[in-house]
Amino acid sequence: MKVPFYGHERQYQSIKSEIDANVQEVIMSGQYVQGPMLKKFEDELAAYAGARYAIGVGNGTDALWLTFMALGLGPGDELITNANTFFATAEAIWIAGCTAVLVDCDPQTKCLDPQAVRQAITKRTRGIVPVHLYGQCAPMREIRKIADEHGLFVVEDNAQAIDARGDEFHIGELSDAVCTSFIIQKNLGTFGDGGALLTNHKYINDKVRKLRNHGSTARNVHSMGFNSRLDDLHAGVLSAKLKHIRQWSNRRIEIADKYTEGLIGCDFVDLPYNRPGYRHVFHLYVIETKDTAERDRLLDYLVKNGVDAKTHYSIAIHQQEGFPWGKDARLVGPLTHAEKNAASCISLPMFPELTEEEIQYTIQVVRDWPKSK
Ligand SMILES: Cc1ncc(COP(=O)(O)O)c(C=O)c1O
Repeated sequence: MKVPFYGHERQYQSIKSEIDANVQEVIMSGQYVQGPMLKKFEDELAAYAGARYAIGVGNGTDALWLTFMALGLGPGDELITNANTFFATAEAIWIAGCTAVLVDCDPQTKCLDPQAVRQAITKRTRGIVPVHLYGQCAPMREIRKIADEHGLFVVEDNAQAIDARGDEFHIGELSDAVCTSFIIQKNLGTFGDGGALLTNHKYINDKVRKLRNHGSTARNVHSMGFNSRLDDLHAGVLSAKLKHIRQWSNRRIEIADKYTEGLIGCDFVDLPYNRPGYRHVFHLYVIETKDTAERDRLLDYLVKNGVDAKTHYSIAIHQQEGFPWGKDARLVGPLTHAEKNAASCISLPMFPELTEEEIQYTIQVVRDWPKSK
């Protein structure tokens, strides 16, 4: 049996008529960039997220650095984030010209450790960029408290956790802006690149709308800007998919429960930790080998036995060759938990269209690992 890591075509087949209808509508409208479908999707996304403004941009990385620029951040300004995030979080900080300050994660959730954030604050700190890693919210109340004490911005990197919630907060409630990615494999993904940011601040909305469109709000009138827009074809795909996101997240949670139930008692791995009361939407179901030396062997074994497992992310940002490439960066250590995560993580297949047989087969293959040695 082969268990794929992604299910893009299966998802397309499941709502093909809805996606096709939207794509047709865009093509027949004759308006493909900043047209009516983008406006419709932005309105739907804002309503869904409970935000005043949603702005579609080229990708999730652009959403982050456009937000930093709209906040007036640049050289000399420090932004604190996880050392164990996808590379783009730090990259966006550097694109905006700021200093990336990398700190450790919580050993259980892998999200930003508020204590580590506190220790990293200097007079140059301007903001915190918590990542809702793997589909679980960072501890936003603690982060908001630190931000208030020090007068800092908070920008949520929500590329991985659309439809997640905290125990008593929702995404966007405790920050200045929320940035998200719609790249293919995300929980809400299009057939290519896309991204958006959500905010309640009019000045961020106005600034980003201008920056994403060559510094223009009226034909022929420009100031310095960029080209980073969400195409209407992608907006059409996303508009169709947004209607299913709650149901797809519920299915991810159900699959995660099955994995956890099936893998309890496997004493060679740690299973994902779900903070009580949080809605973890399992963009990724990440196990960690207890012994870091075993990770590559277990990964190899899974792949050889038809389970297309991957790692997220096996090289922490500060461990990448050449780091920090002449950019401004500060490490506030120790980064023990981030490094342990990089050395021991394995992501099992996780997408809503996984079949029962595939889920049970994956569990069995993991369980049989000790016998295979
Ligand atoms: C945590 C995180 N931040 C940022 C990004 C960047 O998004 P994009 O690839 O759309 O630029 C991604 C995903 O790719 C991500 O997982």
